[in-house]
Amino acid sequence: MGFVAAMYLVVAAALSTISSHGIVAASPTFDVIKYGAIGDGANDDTQAFVKAWGDTCGNAGAQGPPSLVVPGGKQFKLSPVSFQGPCKSSSIFVQIDGKLVAPSSLREWTACPSGSWLAFQNVANLNVKGLGQVDGQGSLWWGGAKNYDFRLQGPTGCEDRPTALTFSNCDNLVLSGLQHINSPKNHISIQHCNGGTISNLNITAPKTSPNTDGIDISSTNQLNIHDLNIQTGDDCIAINTGSSYINITSVSCGPGHGISIGSLGANGTHETAEEVQVRHCTFTGTANGARIKTWQGGSGYAKSITFDQITLNTVKNPIIIDQFYTDAVAQENTESSVVVSSVKYTGFRGTSASDEAITLSCSSVGCSDIILNNVQITSSTPGKTVTASCKNAHGSASSTTPPVPCLIK
Ligand SMILES: *[C@@H]1O[C@H](CO)[C@@H](O)[C@H](O)[C@H]1NC(C)=O
Ligand SMILES: *[C@@H]1O[C@H](CO)[C@@H](O)[C@H](O)[C@H]1NC(C)=O
Ligand SMILES: *[C@@H]1O[C@H](CO)[C@@H](O)[C@H](O)[C@H]1NC(C)=O
Repeated sequence: MGFVAAMYLVVAAALSTISSHGIVAASPTFDVIKYGAIGDGANDDTQAFVKAWGDTCGNAGAQGPPSLVVPGGKQFKLSPVSFQGPCKSSSIFVQIDGKLVAPSSLREWTACPSGSWLAFQNVANLNVKGLGQVDGQGSLWWGGAKNYDFRLQGPTGCEDRPTALTFSNCDNLVLSGLQHINSPKNHISIQHCNGGTISNLNITAPKTSPNTDGIDISSTNQLNIHDLNIQTGDDCIAINTGSSYINITSVSCGPGHGISIGSLGANGTHETAEEVQVRHCTFTGTANGARIKTWQGGSGYAKSITFDQITLNTVKNPIIIDQFYTDAVAQENTESSVVVSSVKYTGFRGTSASDEAITLSCSSVGCSDIILNNVQITSSTPGKTVTASCKNAHGSASSTTPPVPCLIK
């Protein structure tokens, strides 16, 4: 059976239940068209979505999980909106086969609940799936410059460039199949969502678009992420504070800034990340591959992190720990730092675009138990050699090219 056919059966099974009398009762569906959505890309369909969501979320699920349905072949323009729970049914489906498009002028961005264009909040067991597209119309906001002042374009209700899609307090979230393009800022933000799976997504924005992270994760435990294709202007995936037991497998990243733990500890904060496994990922033309970044002056830790079976194609910083992550305005403060420990890099193959393939740059607090094994990185320029550098880094390296003699046991 093909993957698509198998998926169909899974979805079909989920959408219908057999009643005690043996009659197949269809799970209730709430199609946004029936609530007045036009889907011509010009009309604002937000109110139809809000009403359809209200009925979906208010359905008790006696006939199976209720579904909000966004049909294919149409384009729905939505203003910033949030879809709030808790819902009556123990699980909720959102089937998106059409295109969701953000407003095409800044004046239409009248508010950004929780800094986001679309936000799902407090919905447990939420399944968002489909073959549709989520288009954040980010080019309005990018302005070609990093700190573009959108206010010059006129009033909006958004204080900052918004995230396209936020999930907060959504335990056991399933997000799969969609294509996410051109967010004003990060494409997907996952906050306080324990026990979810994110898979089979494409996330695309221009290489030059500012802060367009693919997925940002914070305050989330037990998240399984796999089979994503991410090409953006910033981190493909960033794992931020309060996150643990995060598995990332089969992600193709680039262009972009790599897969990052952090940044952690900005502005003197106490931040933590632990138990993160990144396996079978490919980086192509990225600024970084496996990155851990922490700020001076913060506290907390990044620990028990594994990067395994990583393919590198012309990556500027294939392996980098940076405990001196900073921006121009940040005050240098070396008194404290987020502690980095128990980090493993195994099974790396490929090429570095810079001379320094491995950078372990730790503050006086130091990084400990940094293990490299079976790492083979060469220069993307034939004949050139690459090097490794360390500062206050402790651990060991075996079967590693370039050699890392600077790691102190
Ligand atoms: C995702 O990207 C892959 C590779 O570029 C492509 O084959 C696939 O069709 C894309 N899927 C969607 C839903 O856009
Ligand atoms: C992560 O992978 C490990 C095996 O490497 C597995 O034991 C664990 O359950 C996975 N966690 C999640 C959240 O998928
Ligand atoms: C640190 O705090 C300053 C002042 O409140 C703020 O402007 C800046 O954005 C903060 N930096 C980060 C990375 O949060």
